[in-house]
Amino acid sequence: MKQARCTVNRHFKISDIDERVYGSFIEHMGRAVYTGIYEPEHKQADEQGFRTDVLSAIQDLNVPIVRYPGGNFLSGYDWKDGIGPKQERPKRLDYAWLSIETNQFGINEFADWAQKANTQGMIAVNLGTGTPQDAGYLAEYCNVAQGTYWSDKRREHGYEQPHAFKVWCLGNEMDGPWQTCSLSAEDYAKKARETAKILKWVDPSIELVACGSSSKEMDSFPEWDRTVLETCYPYIDYISLHRYYEYEGDKADFLASYYDLDDFIHTIKATADYAKAKTRSDKVMMLSLDEWNVWYIKHMDTKRWQWAPAIAEDVYSLMDALVVGGLLTTIVNNADRVKMACLAQLVNALAPIHTQPNGRVLKHTTYYPFQQVSQFGRGSVYKNNLRCDSIPTNKYGHVPELATLSTFDENSGEFAFFVLNTNIDDDIELLLSIEEFGELQCIDQQVLSGDDLFAVNSFESPEKVIPKKQTSTQTSGTEFVLALAKASWTMVRFKQAS
Ligand code: AHR
Repeated sequence: MKQARCTVNRHFKISDIDERVYGSFIEHMGRAVYTGIYEPEHKQADEQGFRTDVLSAIQDLNVPIVRYPGGNFLSGYDWKDGIGPKQERPKRLDYAWLSIETNQFGINEFADWAQKANTQGMIAVNLGTGTPQDAGYLAEYCNVAQGTYWSDKRREHGYEQPHAFKVWCLGNEMDGPWQTCSLSAEDYAKKARETAKILKWVDPSIELVACGSSSKEMDSFPEWDRTVLETCYPYIDYISLHRYYEYEGDKADFLASYYDLDDFIHTIKATADYAKAKTRSDKVMMLSLDEWNVWYIKHMDTKRWQWAPAIAEDVYSLMDALVVGGLLTTIVNNADRVKMACLAQLVNALAPIHTQPNGRVLKHTTYYPFQQVSQFGRGSVYKNNLRCDSIPTNKYGHVPELATLSTFDENSGEFAFFVLNTNIDDDIELLLSIEEFGELQCIDQQVLSGDDLFAVNSFESPEKVIPKKQTSTQTSGTEFVLALAKASWTMVRFKQAS
């Protein structure tokens, strides 16, 4: 069998992990909201119309922050359409997805839903058709206690206490020609800066995220990011990154997505650090990877002017789940700068959770690696000294065939190790040395693998692709031999001996 070695040492901590790296995203897109999280007619809906079966799948996923309401939807959305008595809310055309928006779910419903889902909101303001003033009014409606026009309106609408949303995004993908009222870097940067000033005047305790490039492939990348950062540096706390991958016929390339994401993050970090120097700032700009996932965008079929159309309902395979696992290793290994990340999205539209209208819930393959890392990859992340072979790829050259992640939670005394084997032909024996954490007891070992990389879960066979328990030969000590199946994702959890 092929051999590899990984050494982790307690003295080589990368960073504490901000739990918000396990965030997700609900956009008014397809059936994410309507017949996804909100379906008053469903037999398991609660008194507010929220599907409790979906809430429970989300609670089990441990998602500490959810971005809302978009996405591309945001740039043509007037938040005022979604407040007040439901029967008076207007039906509108949504320019982003060419759907009908009934506005039966708005910012107040989101606040209630987020509380029930054990999460907090990351609220995005419209900088497409919207103005800095509209954004200020939304912040006033949500975060000011009382005594002004918009805060008193919220109270009139039945919400005495402010929602107190802490994280706010200054628009969405404003570099993209597909965006309603997209802008040049200079125009966006000025609009974002002026909006940021208003939002922080309204509530100085909030944190702001400016739009970075929509992807590495944009012609304006990374010049867009430089311009935005230099113009907005003193006013913002994060620059955003968005990144999607899809299988296009080359397995080695696709499985190496984790490597590409690392490169993207490093370029944005470098650009942010350049802007820090240029603006003579002491502040280190943090990163918000507020959209990432596997997305089969080329297969997307837009259905014109329907309400809650089934769009972008990707059915994820075992290989997709392996890629999601790999991307998570990259995100958490960069936790010193990536403080927030949102799996895009959460329900139905390019999502790990799928619902039938008036029916059941299905967990796609990608649900599982996300759940494992989100639940157990807590505390701090440690450097992995990894020695393994490389795989030749067409897109990225030679890429290490293993992607690893080591975390330790001081509170629980648990050490978690995650590893993706991207080699589709060979099993690999990995010698894992965990130094300076004391004697460890292996408490759980699970693997996601299989002969068919294209296997999916379905309502007929909902557990076809789920992690399986493994028994390890050696259960305690500081050195462990892990047999990594070809094309697999493995999680091993250890507890410090008391
Ligand atoms: O998540 C789906 C879409 O991807 C979002 O609306 C947009 O921001 C991105 O292009």
